[in-house]
Amino acid sequence: MAKKPAPNAVALVSERRLWDRMMAMAEIGAIPGNGVNRACLSKEDIRARRLLLTWARNLKLDAEVDPIGNLFLRRRGTDATLDPVCAGSHMDSQPQGGRFDGIYGVLAVLEAFEALEAAGITTRRPIELVAWTNEEGGRYAPGAMGSMVHAGLRRLDEFLDLTDKDGIRLGDALAETLAAEPWIPRRPLGRSYAAYLEPHIEQGPRLEAEGKTIGVVTGIQGSRWFTVTVTGETAHAGAAPMRGRKDAVQDALRIIAALNELMADPTDTARFTVGRINVSPNTPNSVASSVQFSIDFRHPDRAELLRRGDAIAALAGRAVRDCTVAVAENFHVMPCAFDPLVVDAVQNAAEGLGLSWMRMPSGAFHDAQFMQPLCPTGMIFVPCRKGISHNVAEYAEPAHLAAGTQVLVGALLDLANR
Ligand code: GLV
Ligand code: MN
Ligand code: MN
Repeated sequence: MAKKPAPNAVALVSERRLWDRMMAMAEIGAIPGNGVNRACLSKEDIRARRLLLTWARNLKLDAEVDPIGNLFLRRRGTDATLDPVCAGSHMDSQPQGGRFDGIYGVLAVLEAFEALEAAGITTRRPIELVAWTNEEGGRYAPGAMGSMVHAGLRRLDEFLDLTDKDGIRLGDALAETLAAEPWIPRRPLGRSYAAYLEPHIEQGPRLEAEGKTIGVVTGIQGSRWFTVTVTGETAHAGAAPMRGRKDAVQDALRIIAALNELMADPTDTARFTVGRINVSPNTPNSVASSVQFSIDFRHPDRAELLRRGDAIAALAGRAVRDCTVAVAENFHVMPCAFDPLVVDAVQNAAEGLGLSWMRMPSGAFHDAQFMQPLCPTGMIFVPCRKGISHNVAEYAEPAHLAAGTQVLVGALLDLANR
């Protein structure tokens, strides 16, 4: 039998307040077409953090920030000696991103705090809202940097000297972000958590297609990111004979064609994307001296993720004709299965509220994937229109966002009272 979550707190989730806050956040970094460009550690990110802190003021939360800028807002429990339950997501967006990816998870937890407060409920364990730094990886790759560093899977100093397209060091952007709220006490990386829970829009079409309101997320497929650098030699486009050219664009095309064959999958399970291409000198009348492009490869099966991913470098070496090529891997995460403790808490909450739900894996990666080795972890998905995401047209229904938040309240009451 599914346990009924405390109905008074669930009923106090305000669809209106949540939606209004979502829309207010969407104004920070708004771009044409109803989209958002809120790069991590940018001026817009600083403004979003400040707005979140302003809304949190009435809730008597304890703010803390860790060395990579992950922001925590703790709601005290009755027993301060117990490990907290952590819940949240990210506030940064893709350069042409939508209004819901990431920020929904942060504001859903804030709304859950509002509902608990209005219901006069104090849980046994503290609950920490987290807003992770740089989940998207659009300004500084790879994504999920904040959670990876927090969980001890990568070191902060590996990333400090990365530069964005304008030459700004990550270390400098981070220092500016931290300096904007100098009053927030610092905390070290990592800690022991009782559980981690992340609400998010699905970013795919399944919930909408199946007419379900809640996705009970069972795990996340694996991802590997690579940077391929093809080095040739620039020459005059009109004068240099075709024979003897070292044209980096032509060799990059040969590599991408070979990769398309490697990644071909009649079952449409593998995901392979070349999303960024930088060409130098990038003029119409010069042969390209170098091309750098990204590979984002994902697969739910560990063996396939390893087999195809491990084949990339050698295949690129064989595919080039006139240039040299170097392949570097900068992100590698295995498929993960979430813990039944959290998965069941989400399912029970959805069931107890009479919401339609289905169990499903995630195609996108999330900070939850990097918390999973640290503590029992899970996610709540809500539908997004036509599955459109990483796109200015991203849209989720206010009622679905509120339903996901109600499930969150139910699951938090369960996990934080254990
Ligand atoms: C997250 O933004 C992803 O690319 O899956
Ligand atoms: Mn996201
Ligand atoms: Mn995203």
